[in-house]
Amino acid sequence: MEEPIRIGIVGSRFAAQFHYTAYQRVTGIDVEVVGVTSLNREHREDFAKNRGINAFDSLEKMLPEVDVIDVCTPGYAHEEVSITSLEAGKHIVVEKPFTGYFGPPEDKNFKGNKFPKEKMLESAVASARRIIAAALKSKRRLCYAENWIYAPAIQKEAEIITKTKGQILWSLGGQSHSGSLSPAYGIWRLSGGGSMVGKSCHPLTAVLYLKQVEGLARNGKAIRPKAVSARTHEITRNPKFIDKGFLRTDYEDIEDYCQLHVIFNDGMVADIFASELVMGGVHNWLEIFANNHRAKCNLSPVNAMEVYNPQEEQFADIYVMEKIGTKQGWSNPAPDENFMFGYPQEIQDFMEAIAAGREPKSGMLAASDVVSVLYAGYISAERKGTEVEVPLDSSIGIGDPAKTLNGRADNIGEYDGK
Ligand SMILES: NC(=O)c1ccc[n+]([C@@H]2O[C@H](COP(=O)([O-])OP(=O)(O)OC[C@H]3O[C@@H](n4cnc5c(N)ncnc54)[C@H](O)[C@@H]3O)[C@@H](O)[C@H]2O)c1
Repeated sequence: MEEPIRIGIVGSRFAAQFHYTAYQRVTGIDVEVVGVTSLNREHREDFAKNRGINAFDSLEKMLPEVDVIDVCTPGYAHEEVSITSLEAGKHIVVEKPFTGYFGPPEDKNFKGNKFPKEKMLESAVASARRIIAAALKSKRRLCYAENWIYAPAIQKEAEIITKTKGQILWSLGGQSHSGSLSPAYGIWRLSGGGSMVGKSCHPLTAVLYLKQVEGLARNGKAIRPKAVSARTHEITRNPKFIDKGFLRTDYEDIEDYCQLHVIFNDGMVADIFASELVMGGVHNWLEIFANNHRAKCNLSPVNAMEVYNPQEEQFADIYVMEKIGTKQGWSNPAPDENFMFGYPQEIQDFMEAIAAGREPKSGMLAASDVVSVLYAGYISAERKGTEVEVPLDSSIGIGDPAKTLNGRADNIGEYDGK
């Protein structure tokens, strides 16, 4: 019998929980979550005890025991944990944001919303390239945990695009809710930004992926982002904002609203919105307007169930949907929210990719391009919406694994309009 793929998780809170659950759903490949490490001893020991795994005092102590490091820390630690792990010969799974700009490490007074954004873009892109270079050098897999790529609605759209060779003319989507649970979110130094980096990354990466798929299906070349215009706002810190207590409002130096307009290298466009201003449960959606069809990809809410609950307390221990706020009255409980969000499918693909030595569907191309678009977006927002070129790493690609040499592919290049 083959040895199991051994996983070590870094981080022991929200993301670590749903990653752990997704590893339990992997089929056809023997996978074992061996342990966890995080900054808080009590928390990691509880996490480990509840799951019958080991709690390690440090990443260094966990590394020799595992094959894969799953990075579920806030964004500021992604580069360091990823590169340390790759250099130790481990595959990596990295949560979003892949990486970013978090200010000078020693500067505790750093305020991201006031900091020049050109410097941020340069540093964020350099950070992404360092992680990718480490993955290419170590010949280990870089799995970028963008679950939207694996959401069934997005994968169905990818099938439609592939089989009909349709052209996506305009995409419109967003992610919004009433505020993240993570204490790190809200502090740029830890999170790398606000709604743009933390939320718009999801629908944006789904669109980047679908345009890659479209280009590969029709022309053998991924279509990639070329330019972006963006706006950001700090609505809950606007002195005229009237707080009724339903939204999180304790953000330090991040935006809580953003919009992005992306232009691809085939001239087609996408509009993405994200905010911390939306009640009624997490709103995850993407609409595709193609030259041969139109699709509405609803990740949340979904209407597989409609329930009326006359009394809040009855549903005290019933999960309805992420960030629902109240369970009283009509709601649309998600029968299997993790599945609709693509979490188990994502981890399944990562494990298959590692076992087979192939690129995952969400790998270095998606990770690299999304960092470039988001931080180019911050420059645009600083200039109140002026168009900004997206700097791309042209050395990486996706597509036919046979043509892909450890992530370097011959299928990336300027889209030639065919
Ligand atoms: N894909 C999704 O839908 C989704 C959802 C939630 C969070 N996330 C992402 O997952 C990551 C974690 O989010 P969260 O909500 O669990 O964050 P959190 O702030 O609630 O928890 C972070 C965990 O990381 C640990 N940690 C922080 N720095 C560390 C370091 N240097 N070394 C070791 N451990 C460290 C902390 O102790 C804590 O256990 C973030 O990057 C976030 O953007 C993704």
